[in-house]
Amino acid sequence: MTKTSRFPGFYNETLAARRLLVGDATGTDPGDITSALEAGGLDAVTADKFVENVLGTYALPYGVALNVRVNGREHVVPMVIEEPSVVAAASNAAKMVRAGGGFIAEADAPIMIAQIELRDVKDAHAAARRIEEHSAEILKLADAAIAGLVSRGGGARGVEARVLADDIVVAHILVDCKDAMGANLVNGVAEAVADRVAAIAEARVGLRILSNLCDKRCVRVRCEVDAEALATGEMGGSEVIDGIVAASRFAELDPYRAATHNKGIMNGIDAVVIATGNDWRAVEAGAHAFAARTGRYMPLAVWRRAGDKLQGKIELPLALGTVGGTLRVHPAARVSLRILGVTDAQELAGIAAAVGLASNLAAVRALATDGIQRGHMGLHARSVALAAGATAEQVERVAAMIVEARDITLDGAKRALNAL
Ligand code: MEV
Repeated sequence: MTKTSRFPGFYNETLAARRLLVGDATGTDPGDITSALEAGGLDAVTADKFVENVLGTYALPYGVALNVRVNGREHVVPMVIEEPSVVAAASNAAKMVRAGGGFIAEADAPIMIAQIELRDVKDAHAAARRIEEHSAEILKLADAAIAGLVSRGGGARGVEARVLADDIVVAHILVDCKDAMGANLVNGVAEAVADRVAAIAEARVGLRILSNLCDKRCVRVRCEVDAEALATGEMGGSEVIDGIVAASRFAELDPYRAATHNKGIMNGIDAVVIATGNDWRAVEAGAHAFAARTGRYMPLAVWRRAGDKLQGKIELPLALGTVGGTLRVHPAARVSLRILGVTDAQELAGIAAAVGLASNLAAVRALATDGIQRGHMGLHARSVALAAGATAEQVERVAAMIVEARDITLDGAKRALNAL
């Protein structure tokens, strides 16, 4: 159990001290953190086993979001992301939420959908009916293909048939994947039952593959923030609530804005998904298809006023695993789960969605108050200072100088470096 996710002044600590603090709070050996994360967490020889034609590895920064409390439990949340300010912004927003009691999360059972496309169907509605009538037999056949999962308490749970056209029906086999993301399991089920399903439907087998629109595997997170926690130097908390609610409305009315609103959410979610060795393309595909499920692309998170509080909620499908796949072989992914203190895929989904909601809160609060550039530029200045050749000791000073001079350019940073 993580002792705390609250570390005032964490960003001022050295890398070594941060590893010690996180190790101590989460019960993770700091030596394991160091060995898993040095050199990008993955050596080239191991990487060569993952994919084809390997030349090496490509590292990204690995940070931790702080202050994250979900369902009363503390979590230090690993985030892998190259964009400055996302980790700090999520931590800052999580701190505001924490003061209001933390995030409340609930996740559906980890049900994935195997799709079997059936072509050249003669009477599509009759075929769909027959498939559903044969559910028990199809489920048995599916379970036989995933005996290991069945022995761990998972397995096939339902059969649905959808008519797509006069001659095309799609059968859905619903599979409880427990703590696995489940792609391989579900694809195996689709292939194992396809011939029998086609015979029942008196049709030809088309594609057999999972759906990434795993809308039976949704997670819902909500939070509440007091007005005073949202106030800035220039704006009172109540005014900030109005601004955030208006920003939510803009996203609800306009797909152009909703796309950017959701991008800010995925900044947080993808970073957790990558840090835990999960498939972020699958998560992205599912999130955006879900956002468009009504026929119009909508925000995944919305904000409302309740008296002098701001209430936020997010809902999206999240197919995450805590066993199998990359997790088994990627040392950094394994250490991430240890730091998080989770083994349960539903709990992990709740944490990832909470970080998505925190990222969204940080973005809409910044947009509704100072604008996004002020905070971004300060952090961008550090990258520019590094690019100009500043050492670790010089970075903060050079960044501060170019921000002050309003000259956040490579030349500006070189001049500041010379002046030091
Ligand atoms: C930038 O990575 C994300 C934002 O554009 C999100 C938003 O506009 O809500 C700041």
